[in-house]
Amino acid sequence: MPSAPIDNSIVDVAEPRKDTIGLPEPALARLTKAGVDLSNGYPYRPSRPLYLDDVYRIRSKEWKHDDAGARAHKSKSALFSAATKVTDLTTHIGTEIEGLQLKDLTDQQKDELALLIAERSVVFFRNQDISPQQQLALGRYYGEVEVHPQVAQVPGHPGVTVIWPDLQATERSVSFRQPGGASRWHSDLVHELQPAGITHLHNDTVPPVGGDTLWASGYSAYEKLSPDFRKIIDGKLAVYRSAHPYLDRSNPDCGPKHIERVHPLVRVHPATGWKALWVNRTFTDRIVGLDRGESDAILNYLFGVYEGNVDIQLRFKWTPGTSALWDNRVTIHNANWDYGGKYPRHGTRVTSLAEKPYFDDAAPTRRQALGLLDEGELIPDGQ
Ligand SMILES: [Fe+2]
Repeated sequence: MPSAPIDNSIVDVAEPRKDTIGLPEPALARLTKAGVDLSNGYPYRPSRPLYLDDVYRIRSKEWKHDDAGARAHKSKSALFSAATKVTDLTTHIGTEIEGLQLKDLTDQQKDELALLIAERSVVFFRNQDISPQQQLALGRYYGEVEVHPQVAQVPGHPGVTVIWPDLQATERSVSFRQPGGASRWHSDLVHELQPAGITHLHNDTVPPVGGDTLWASGYSAYEKLSPDFRKIIDGKLAVYRSAHPYLDRSNPDCGPKHIERVHPLVRVHPATGWKALWVNRTFTDRIVGLDRGESDAILNYLFGVYEGNVDIQLRFKWTPGTSALWDNRVTIHNANWDYGGKYPRHGTRVTSLAEKPYFDDAAPTRRQALGLLDEGELIPDGQ
């Protein structure tokens, strides 16, 4: 893994900054309509926590996650009957729903949407009229909303993260060759004790050309592996680390360190009951119990399978006012920066943390469960 550069700015406990770059017009209109107080600047920047142990203490106790998708009726009839159109965008991943406003969903429809997101991995809704407050309410319905200790947020609404590449570019230089963190394959917040379940990104402003986001299916990546190879990684644990580094209080001179937590390499989704590969090149550091060389060899192979098979991926072209809801438990994603900062892009993101990842050897794969296995395809022993 690339080591993080020393970032002296993390020792600053600065006053929240007032940023001066201009908000794109559609974002300003949306935030104004929602009654967001912009008088103290936008976005709100929390003071950065100083030390590693301060950050470990945030959400350090396990809580019970009640998964909305797990209690939904399998038919999803309340959701589907209210929509004007439901379109699968590829065979293995991605569905678009038309004719519904996310802010108006009933609880039954929210549960059914959570199940659909679990099954299809990512679901899209274009032309959404949704405020940051309504987005936050939906996120709270789906789990414990993550409030990040240091990233930009909508003022007055902790938990609504601002995704604004032009702002991020003021803090870290980006270029065609170095396009920035979100332009690498990753899953969000994998270092949490109970990592991210559903993430909801609403983009109010998007470039006219470029800026697509790609997702890949962890269910299908797992199924690309031979049954014998699956046995090697089933039940193995790996170390997952945070995007941001912090100083070790007991040894500050050694430089910033990442938050690290141990989770299973293959996990089972509580709503579908299907196994998924759960690694990503950006934040999965090493497999527990293996030497570094062994771990790197296996992880690099898994990253390659996940990132390199286009039949298990989706590339989505945004339009202004689109919401994407994806399940980080069963996907990786990659925000393409091909527009090179030439056009504004702005959105708000709410992430609902879910259960502590678990593995169940008896769980089926997606294609086993759906009866989609090719004729003659080898089925693992005992399944
Ligand atoms: Fe992300």
